[in-house]
Amino acid sequence: MRTDQKRWDKRFGTKEFALGREPNPFLKRYIHLLPKGKALDIATGEGRNAVFLARHGFEVDAVDISEKGLKKARKLAREIGVRVNALLVDLDDYQIEKDRYDLIADFYFLKRRLIPRIRKGLKKGGKVIFETYLLEHRTLGAGGPKQAKYFLKPNELLRLFKNFQVLFYREGIFREGGRRKAVASLIAEKI
Ligand SMILES: C[S@@+](CC[C@H](N)C(=O)[O-])C[C@H]1O[C@@H](n2cnc3c(N)ncnc32)[C@H](O)[C@@H]1O
Repeated sequence: MRTDQKRWDKRFGTKEFALGREPNPFLKRYIHLLPKGKALDIATGEGRNAVFLARHGFEVDAVDISEKGLKKARKLAREIGVRVNALLVDLDDYQIEKDRYDLIADFYFLKRRLIPRIRKGLKKGGKVIFETYLLEHRTLGAGGPKQAKYFLKPNELLRLFKNFQVLFYREGIFREGGRRKAVASLIAEKI
């Protein structure tokens, strides 16, 4: 078993939801900007965002390397009464089908090699919603990943989707979900 998988299975192997049942606040606030249809939630964890999308009428594929996380995602979907197609995949080598999705969501999973696959996986007119930590987050002493490669540099998220039309972008320190975090958040459309 891969180290990532072991680590996340351990984190998600508790009765409580380690990342909570509530969706990411940025997703919740801007759900009205997102096109309905087929969605992919990248690295869904315990499924808080995938279930929220399903509640809002999306047909959701949710992928992650942690079976424990996916089990909780399925449980949360059952409790809320929605369907989420939760799939065990390793995003290191997962090929997203070309032109398949109206929406791809990526919250707190930065793997730069995956970005071209996200771009290709969207239909024309499809949207990406992405949020993750900036390097600055490390100065806040507010948790988050350990290795520098998991943090965005200034403007990097914009550059990663430079051929898309940006509908919303922010970068900075925000207090959300009861904590301070330095993040970049993007909604952009494939043109
Ligand atoms: C910080 S969590 C984010 C979870 C979710 N997006 C959220 O915001 O609630 C990162 C997720 O990445 C997943 N992950 C790590 N490496 C992975 C890989 N190689 N393939 C698929 N998922 C992976 C972990 O299992 C974990 O669920």
